[in-house]
Amino acid sequence: MNNEKKPLRIALTKGRLEKDTVGLLEKIGYDCTAVHEKGRKLILPVGDTIEVVLAKAADVITYVENGVCDMGVVGKDTIMEMSGKFFELVDLGFGRCRFALAGKKGEDFYSGYDVKTIATKYPNVARGYFEKKNMDVEIVKIEGSVELAPLLGLSDAIVDIVETGTTLKENGLEVYEDIAPISARMIANMVSLKLRKQEIEELIAAIEKNI
Ligand code: PRP
Repeated sequence: MNNEKKPLRIALTKGRLEKDTVGLLEKIGYDCTAVHEKGRKLILPVGDTIEVVLAKAADVITYVENGVCDMGVVGKDTIMEMSGKFFELVDLGFGRCRFALAGKKGEDFYSGYDVKTIATKYPNVARGYFEKKNMDVEIVKIEGSVELAPLLGLSDAIVDIVETGTTLKENGLEVYEDIAPISARMIANMVSLKLRKQEIEELIAAIEKNI
């Protein structure tokens, strides 16, 4: 019966989180050769019991939420922005960075009475942050290199990911306030967690021993 079982399908966020997750799976003892030799393939076997799916961060959540993937590895940034119905099982400890409010160096963000404009790739996170402060702001969605917005005069500040701080520094910007720490999380579909409880719990236990 066990032989007929479908592999546990895990959606990985392509790029750095993918590499760190594969490193972790190898540490546990899974054979990740197919992922190393993937070429342009998007669904790959890991050992006999796992299948990894390579996807963009937001899509990892969509696939897990809809149950076409049992589990997923995604940054807390994407989880905070998208929310949704899934379980967040474990903090994997890698992909560490933070959400921050940042802007031009030396400027006082809170000065004046005008409504501030915030540029961000994460409008929900930014909105939530200022709602908690009871502060009315205008939010402009930017798709990448958000640091450009205050430099070009489109916004008073940005809400963005800061990892090393190099991008801010090299563009004459600085962190005004830290908003939240970020790291990679393992998530699971709610039904999978019930139907494949033992497999998932075993994998999580092995992961926890190795992080
Ligand atoms: C992220 C983020 C910052 C940068 C921060 O961008 O949006 O721009 O990394 O990293 P640092 O603090 O180490 O300099 P990403 O590289 O994902 O590109 P994007 O801005 O085009 O989305």
